[in-house]
Amino acid sequence: MGYMTHHSTIKPLTVNDLAVMKQQGEKITCLTAYDASFSALIDKVGIDVMLVGDSLGMVIQGHDTTLPVTIADMVYHTRCVSQARRRAFVLADLPFMSYSTPVNAAKNAAKLMQLGGAQMIKLEGAHFEVVSFLVNQGIPVCGHLGLLPQKINQLGTYKVQGKESSEAMQIIDDAQQLQQAGASLLVLECVPAGLAKEISTRLRIPVIGIGAGVDCDGQVLVLHDMLDIGILKRPRFSKNFMHEVTTIESAIDAYHKAVKQAKFPATEHSF
Ligand code: KIV
Repeated sequence: MGYMTHHSTIKPLTVNDLAVMKQQGEKITCLTAYDASFSALIDKVGIDVMLVGDSLGMVIQGHDTTLPVTIADMVYHTRCVSQARRRAFVLADLPFMSYSTPVNAAKNAAKLMQLGGAQMIKLEGAHFEVVSFLVNQGIPVCGHLGLLPQKINQLGTYKVQGKESSEAMQIIDDAQQLQQAGASLLVLECVPAGLAKEISTRLRIPVIGIGAGVDCDGQVLVLHDMLDIGILKRPRFSKNFMHEVTTIESAIDAYHKAVKQAKFPATEHSF
């Protein structure tokens, strides 16, 4: 007879479950979440990964960029999301300047995990030394390449990255080096669909796309964009999933099914 507790028998997904999904060709669904109510709803629908993204700087806090978001903000929202989660994997962003050195990164990642309940942290850019330091401390890492919103003051505008072949080669190389450094997941944001396909094929670890075409191992969208309640204009690569339904739950379910069946993103959402 099995060990019985009063707790639900639903087990939270692990990093291994995500790896197996890639191996078996099952698309990984991911949405951003910032609070307990949406966490419970997203989890109930069966979305695989909830990303507590620093996009909360825009959709929750009303800033123009993700730069003002602090580690304290991230811990607070990650805890709100973890609290209501039953199955979905909880991934949390390290915000701007919170991973400027390996030690700084480890200290802040520990807060997201110990206080926030995150299972993995995400950081932007080709910081291989930071990634391997975190992984050696037992902190699972998700990389993030392509458009890096934390670099907006250097980029000037949010636009597609990797259109030039030299840029594309750099992104492929960075992706391989992140995997080599021990990253177990990679987000690719706003890159041509062909480039994202190439990277998803080359890497062993799952690649989650946003504005990166249908051939990634999974997809992520900002919740408020797909529910059409964002303050800022919805980006071209996103889609209003409330368009044909009457409840938030069915919009999230439509997104979940569209990603699982490789029907989203369509070419009009891709570059
Ligand atoms: O902050 C965020 O929500 C993100 C996604 C857009 C990938 O990083």
